[in-house]
Amino acid sequence: MNLQLRDKVVLITGGAKGIGGACARALSEEGATSVIVDRDAEAGEKLRQELLSAGARCLLVTADLTSPERCAQSVEYAMKEFGQLDALLNNAGVNDRIGLEHGSPEQYVGSLQRNLLHYYNMAHYALPHLKRSKGSIVNIASKTAITGQGGTSGYASSKGGHLPEPRLETDDHHIKDSSGQPDDWRR
Ligand SMILES: NC(=O)c1ccc[n+]([C@@H]2O[C@H](COP(=O)([O-])OP(=O)(O)OC[C@H]3O[C@@H](n4cnc5c(N)ncnc54)[C@H](O)[C@@H]3O)[C@@H](O)[C@H]2O)c1
Repeated sequence: MNLQLRDKVVLITGGAKGIGGACARALSEEGATSVIVDRDAEAGEKLRQELLSAGARCLLVTADLTSPERCAQSVEYAMKEFGQLDALLNNAGVNDRIGLEHGSPEQYVGSLQRNLLHYYNMAHYALPHLKRSKGSIVNIASKTAITGQGGTSGYASSKGGHLPEPRLETDDHHIKDSSGQPDDWRR
């Protein structure tokens, strides 16, 4: 397949495994460069070695995205290494089951930190570079954004927050953006 991604640099949050890992592999097959940002150093290194062995360019940044500083650094490292950023794939997240009855105000905020806030932070720090490249932002959401799910208020609210998040602000900069719901394409 030629998706016209050759030599594009794509930063993938949560890119060490799961959906993010599959995206890194697919991007590499298309000739793109993956910047994997993930807190799982072991899985990230395993995938980095796999991609390098296949001849792809790849950078691994081990970081916990709940820290805004680490979000900023991840973008900085990508720019330092490759000098360009063509797409941001916001993907990292976890269904942490913080619900109304068995959660708490503090746990709810924690869930937003794990699932929502870094999507904004990454887009914020990547924006100047994406404006230059007329690049793309893709947010991985979930069907729970629309349907909700029992006992997962924090996660479902976060996923709802991904749907409109960049769209309102990127049109002026010719940045393409979209939010995907993997539940749909996994069926
Ligand atoms: N798997 C599904 O059926 C499904 C359904 C709907 C939505 N999603 C969404 O798709 C995305 C990926 O899900 P997945 O199933 O591939 O998950 P996964 O657990 O297989 O992989 C997620 C990766 O993100 C990393 N990660 C998570 N939080 C992080 C953080 N704070 N900092 C750094 N790295 C972090 C993990 O280490 C892991 O490598 C998530 O946003 C999830 O909400 C998944």
